[in-house]
Amino acid sequence: MKLGRLNHVGVAVPSIADAVAHYRAVLGADDITDPFDIPEQGVKVCFVNTPGAGTQIELIQPLSEASPIHGFLARNPLGGQHHICFEVPDIAQARDWFEGQGKRILGPTRIGAHGTPIFFVHPKDMLGQLTEIMETPHGH
Ligand code: CO
Repeated sequence: MKLGRLNHVGVAVPSIADAVAHYRAVLGADDITDPFDIPEQGVKVCFVNTPGAGTQIELIQPLSEASPIHGFLARNPLGGQHHICFEVPDIAQARDWFEGQGKRILGPTRIGAHGTPIFFVHPKDMLGQLTEIMETPHGH
């Protein structure tokens, strides 16, 4: 496997509306997507676009108490950095690579918020960092 671009940093927030206002007012962000729900993952998300390489901040709000983000916010009430996401050219090859090293993958490969296949690698096998691996969107 070859490490690709840092696509986004996932940040859990109690309120996407409040977080968007913060990014605009405090950080001067002016390119933020509209929020949308991903019911199968129990979250509402939106993306703050940064210039240059186009790395994004993924703001993530739980849709219900069943959401995995709900527990994270219970431990971190202000919110906080939740995961990082790297691109790879071939998701199946990347999955084989991690599995071949005995790294624990959380659940099946599925379609992520960018419409491309993703999977997550357990933080205990990744220096404490929950890591999302995402196939590079076609056309990029
Ligand atoms: Co993500």
